[in-house]
Amino acid sequence: MTPAQAPHEPLQGPEVPVPPAPVIRMRGVTRTFPSPPPVTALRSCELTVLPGEYVAVVGPSGSGKSTFLNLLGLLDRPSSGTYELDGIDTGTLAESRRTALRGQRIGFVFQSFHLLPHRTAAENVALAQLYNRTPRGGRRAAARDVLQRVGLGHRLDALPTRMSGGERQRVAIARALVNEPSLLLCDEPTGNLDSVTADRVMTLFEELHATGLTLLVITHDRDVAARAGRTVTIRDGVLRPGVAAPSGGRA
Ligand SMILES: Nc1ncnc2c1ncn2[C@@H]1O[C@H](COP(=O)(O)OP(=O)(O)OP(=O)(O)O)[C@@H](O)[C@H]1O
Ligand SMILES: [Mg+2]
Repeated sequence: MTPAQAPHEPLQGPEVPVPPAPVIRMRGVTRTFPSPPPVTALRSCELTVLPGEYVAVVGPSGSGKSTFLNLLGLLDRPSSGTYELDGIDTGTLAESRRTALRGQRIGFVFQSFHLLPHRTAAENVALAQLYNRTPRGGRRAAARDVLQRVGLGHRLDALPTRMSGGERQRVAIARALVNEPSLLLCDEPTGNLDSVTADRVMTLFEELHATGLTLLVITHDRDVAARAGRTVTIRDGVLRPGVAAPSGGRA
């Protein structure tokens, strides 16, 4: 009950909304690579990310960031612990179901863009829809809409080889968004960009976040992390809330 509630609004009723499931719910996640000798890259990690949150994950080299991203992106499975994506327990799913879930619910953005160099911006984005059921004409329209959303409506037919780093990363972001994912997972998204261009990409993330998108950004860069709504730190495979002391000292 809030004092601001309008008098004619019922306080309770059949339509009391059920809170949405967290986008990410990881509990007790450990990942050990069996390589001789075995390496435990993540230990007992706990993370809950609610819809619409913007979370940065920071940590030094070798701390477990990519291992963590691979688990979140359903590219790898935990050795123990559970991971629910949008309330779905992913550990019990067959590989084909995990692949489908990844395609429908997760958009990836990487440091090095991973665009097809001989396809236009619009084609790169449209190709990401091959595995959903959008008909061909609809794919082109959806690609145009999402490229407009990232400020590239005027570059639909440009080849990545003729684009700046910032433009390429915008195409990659458009491609990640075209299937309307629940979660945008970004691995060092500004790692190949100069500071001005990186700043523009961060502004785009803020705009997307303002429209309700859930983002998780892995970064070395504390300035990038500072612009997220919340930061978690990984050190030696252990996840902790907040920003830890700079590396050098022991966490
Ligand atoms: N396939 C593997 N087999 C064995 N050990 C691995 C494997 N992948 C990663 N590791 C080890 O797990 C630890 C975490 O690696 P990870 O790649 O997750 O670190 P990172 O934080 O992404 O580092 P960087 O910032 O350098 O990318 C490291 O000690 C790494 O050597
Ligand atoms: Mg890494």
